[in-house]
Amino acid sequence: MRASVWVTVGLVLASLTGAHTVTPELTRLGRVLQQDAGEASASGASGPDLPQCMTPWEIFNSSAELSFWAEALQTVGFADEVHSPYITATFLAPTNDAFAKLLHSLGSSKQQLLANPSMVPILLYHMIPGAYMAIGDFDLGDSLSTALNLNVTVGAASAPLVAAPGMNSTVVTVRSAESIADIVKYNITACMAMIHEIDQVLMPEFLGAQSGPNQVVYHLGDGSGSHAPVANLTLVLPGGSKKGLGDPANPMYQITDAGLMFSISSAMPQ
Ligand SMILES: *[C@@H]1O[C@H](CO)[C@@H](O)[C@H](O)[C@H]1NC(C)=O
Ligand SMILES: *[C@@H]1O[C@H](CO)[C@@H](O)[C@H](O)[C@H]1NC(C)=O
Ligand SMILES: *[C@@H]1O[C@H](CO)[C@@H](O)[C@H](O)[C@H]1NC(C)=O
Ligand SMILES: *[C@@H]1O[C@H](CO)[C@@H](O)[C@H](O)[C@H]1NC(C)=O
Ligand SMILES: *[C@@H]1O[C@H](CO)[C@@H](O)[C@H](O)[C@H]1NC(C)=O
Repeated sequence: MRASVWVTVGLVLASLTGAHTVTPELTRLGRVLQQDAGEASASGASGPDLPQCMTPWEIFNSSAELSFWAEALQTVGFADEVHSPYITATFLAPTNDAFAKLLHSLGSSKQQLLANPSMVPILLYHMIPGAYMAIGDFDLGDSLSTALNLNVTVGAASAPLVAAPGMNSTVVTVRSAESIADIVKYNITACMAMIHEIDQVLMPEFLGAQSGPNQVVYHLGDGSGSHAPVANLTLVLPGGSKKGLGDPANPMYQITDAGLMFSISSAMPQ
């Protein structure tokens, strides 16, 4: 992974600190994740027992090996967004070991990573909206459309789809623009969502970032070597333009190209 690019991007950005809450009428990640899942949601017969199931957030927040992932979701205001039994999505949740490897390669601290707005695109890259995919549904070469509008691919040139190290274990590899991860724990059902734990953080390719007044646009590549961005993600930082978006007293983020937005209601350092 091109850690140096990521660090450069991170340096030009304002920091996020503190815990944030999301203003419900502005939150759309949850809605994106609930988009029609076709087959899975249509076959109501096999639907979950909603009152009794654990939501994705409840699973993240109660899994010891996913505590960093849970904290990161909470820090950027996504915890409430994934705390609905109606979320239909597949999450590729990096374990604490995966984040430890990322921190090591970046040479950054946990606090620095959590305070970096680049966490927003990174987190969105691990969510596949509208898809309830068990491990057996991943086929070699599948291209999966993430909430970042940037795909990840199942299998990798350098690794077989299924290396069967033991009788009951399956290794499925997921390739992002900049990293390759193995699914290390799979088929964790969270109401209508599916969670698989992965051993590396999936990094988008950060081609660059343009910082404007209280705003940053990330240009993201697909790792093909092309310099043309395949996705752009805009974060309107606190104090930036929030035309027509809800309560102007609240600093907010707007993520345009991915069709998402959320706001942060706590006071932010300017
Ligand atoms: C996460 O779980 C702990 C208990 O393990 C609980 O105290 C806390 O409120 C939970 N956080 C959220 C945001 O649900
Ligand atoms: C994963 O879950 C699917 C459906 O929920 C099931 O058919 C499959 O057998 C499970 N795979 C493993 C390896 O447990
Ligand atoms: C991304 O994945 C979606 C869903 O599989 C697919 O329709 C689309 O063509 C893919 N896009 C690219 C650029 O591979
Ligand atoms: C595989 O799983 C089955 C059923 O859970 C179990 O009986 C068997 O001992 C396991 N085999 C190995 C090699 O772990
Ligand atoms: C992303 O932004 C760049 C530069 O502004 C533009 O050339 C490119 O077409 C955009 N890509 C997408 C997918 O919107």
